Amino acid sequence: MPGDNAKKALIDSLNGLLADLFALYIKTKNFHWHVAGRQFRDLHLLFDEQATEIFALTDIVAERVRKNGGGTLTSIGAIAGKSVIADDDRSALDALDMVRTLRDDNVTLIARIRAAKAAAGEAGDNATDGASDDWTDQAEQRVWFLTQILGG
Ligand SMILES: [Fe+2]
Repeated sequence: MPGDNAKKALIDSLNGLLADLFALYIKTKNFHWHVAGRQFRDLHLLFDEQATEIFALTDIVAERVRKNGGGTLTSIGAIAGKSVIADDDRSALDALDMVRTLRDDNVTLIARIRAAKAAAGEAGDNATDGASDDWTDQAEQRVWFLTQILGG
């Protein structure tokens, strides 16, 4: 039987992932709102698609925490305390720098998902373990798109 420590580690890992989903969501929206230049239309639409996908995962991850008996995030302050993806308040960033930033942040997110999957394995939470593969696939798709825009 997995112990309480494994369960606690899983809850912490999922809450960290949740914080980064919110951080990446608002960052992607920032760039959706402020991107400029010749690729405006494509990037404006792509960033919105990606933000929608990221936001859709927040409720799923939060409820994995609750189903494991843990408490989840409650506020912007709680998000700030647990995220590793850095805020970026620059609205006049060059369009390709926005793409590069989001590509790197999605790579970071994949590492967070993998950590949560490993913690789920330790805790015997096969539902999180299985669902997280889809979260990784989505993030890898975002990384692929953003990398291709940068020239591969
Ligand atoms: Fe919009």
